[in-house]
Amino acid sequence: MNEKQIVGEKAAEYVKDGMIVGLGTGSTVFYTIKKLGEMVNQGLSIKGIPTSIQTETLARELKIPLVNFSEVDCIDVAIDGADEIDSDLNLIKGGGGALLREKIIAKAANTFIVVADSTKIVESLGSFPLPVEVVPFGYEMTKKQIIQLGIEPTLRQVNNHPYKTDNGNYIFDCEISSIFHASELEKGLNMIPGVVENGLFVKMVDAVITLDSKKDIVIK
Ligand code: 5RP
Repeated sequence: MNEKQIVGEKAAEYVKDGMIVGLGTGSTVFYTIKKLGEMVNQGLSIKGIPTSIQTETLARELKIPLVNFSEVDCIDVAIDGADEIDSDLNLIKGGGGALLREKIIAKAANTFIVVADSTKIVESLGSFPLPVEVVPFGYEMTKKQIIQLGIEPTLRQVNNHPYKTDNGNYIFDCEISSIFHASELEKGLNMIPGVVENGLFVKMVDAVITLDSKKDIVIK
């Protein structure tokens, strides 16, 4: 079993009968969702809220019942991956482009659990370029405003066209080197007109499931 599978499947143990479950996006939480599919097949009764179209498709294939926000008051637990996790359990997310829906769902969850292989654990955030989702209208101007914060944004592209999120927006991947004041940066970026959301998840995590240097599961 690879690291992603070990931590991904472990997280499924936190899901109990009757829960509303936020289903994250990415190659680690993929294993959680697959495990939940097996558990549903064996009689577990849950309802999922997916963080992306990709996850929605996977959950439907696995016959996990889905709901939307108009049908529920809150989410019991959300499980998702991360691109970087610092010692305060702050995150960079959005490598897969789903950061906006991921943040909405993590915020709505009573418990937010992150699953991550050991490569995601860092001293301080910033080696991974910070994804910032922006509306297409005036994105060139939004870019200038981001640069004024001392950040170097690069428009994410696929086949020489701007990458589009599930929400129809663009993403700037931002080189920052080291993030010392994550909370201020998160708020500062979101103050810029045109910025929809950024991939900093500050003080949102309840538990991280990862592996230590001996490859034993640790819960942080
Ligand atoms: C998607 C994300 C993912 O959770 C993050 O990129 C980690 O993905 P993976 O588990 O594939 O490494 O934020 O927007």
